[in-house]
Amino acid sequence: MVLFTKLLIIVAAAAVVAFPPRRAADHADVVPGKYIVTLKGDADVESHIAWVKSLHPRNSCSPHTKAVEKVWTESFKGYSGEFDEATLKQITSREDVVGIEPHNCPWGLISLSHREPDGRRYDYWGSAGEGTWVYVLDTGIYTENLDFEGRAHLGYNAIPSIPFEDTNGHGTHCAGTIIGKRFGVAKNAQAIAVKVLDGDSGDTATVIDGLEWAVSNITKTPGRAANAVVSMSLGGPYSLALNTAVKNAYHAGVLSVVAAGNSGLPAELFSPASESTAITVAAIDVSRRKAGFANFGASVDVFAAGVDVESAYIGAPDAFAALSGTSMATSYIAGLALYLKRLEYGTESPGGVTARIQELATRDVVQESGPLTPNLLAYNNFPAQGPCPGCG
Ligand SMILES: *[C@@H]1O[C@H](CO)[C@@H](O)[C@H](O)[C@H]1NC(C)=O
Repeated sequence: MVLFTKLLIIVAAAAVVAFPPRRAADHADVVPGKYIVTLKGDADVESHIAWVKSLHPRNSCSPHTKAVEKVWTESFKGYSGEFDEATLKQITSREDVVGIEPHNCPWGLISLSHREPDGRRYDYWGSAGEGTWVYVLDTGIYTENLDFEGRAHLGYNAIPSIPFEDTNGHGTHCAGTIIGKRFGVAKNAQAIAVKVLDGDSGDTATVIDGLEWAVSNITKTPGRAANAVVSMSLGGPYSLALNTAVKNAYHAGVLSVVAAGNSGLPAELFSPASESTAITVAAIDVSRRKAGFANFGASVDVFAAGVDVESAYIGAPDAFAALSGTSMATSYIAGLALYLKRLEYGTESPGGVTARIQELATRDVVQESGPLTPNLLAYNNFPAQGPCPGCG
């Protein structure tokens, strides 16, 4: 098994490879949905801030907005905060405003919440996967990364000869994209680490072992199956055993979201990518072109962002990094599955949430999607609300 990040590690034939992580950039200033507003030098900052605060929506089920965060009144007059589109428009129209600029938001989150390519922020309902769980079969998770806010937990180490700790970074990065406060899709969800990869590779039996632990934990916890997914940003050569394990999990009520793989080949040659009951995810770049490395074909179910994806990393509590791979795209879809499970009825079963993700996806916008590949780009359907569990 290999990790499905951009550089494919060649391993012995029987092994499964994880696409190894590639650290491309770090310490950029990345804050989803946040803006910096510059005011004129003679602006009355206090009254401006009072006015902005009066615009802020108070409904707990309204889009996630924290409004004003920092205010500067001395040599620089301005403020930072998180605003919805309507509020932004009103701020822009003010005479005392010189300009508004976004903090950089991971483009994968923007892509997920806009059908058109011109989105500027991640738009989502504040429930954001609350009460849902992802089991991340990977290199482990560095649970102390602050982006997890204590919502990442160690579950099971299928390789007891090595420490549970994520010494690679891949699992932490994937978990960050699924549940992270800054980088994640489902910002209120919980993650459980299942370690099945040693460094950046592992074997098929270990992956099956980790999957069986997750399925058992999910099905033995009352109510968990309807609110959980398994995420596998890994894969190897076709394996009947692994595909069967994924299929049996599906029939037990447990959905697996899996990476298509990074070989630029038909995904049907790989497992678990070739398993039809899994959601198999391929990657696009920022121009909505299929990433050259991404596997393709009829085994693919949906596309999401997978080139230069920023997320949490190892090494320090505030570490983050940009990686590329179908691993990263898979994490966006695992997060989307949790988000929809929290938000919409009908997504409790593996089949229900799979159908919903495909139904919502934007059609025919992925360039060079590859032979026989469904041309579907994941979309979270914001602001359509549907029934909002927990509202009112
Ligand atoms: C599931 O795993 C967690 C550890 O992450 C453990 O605390 C819990 O007891 C397990 N539940 C079952 C039903 O096995």
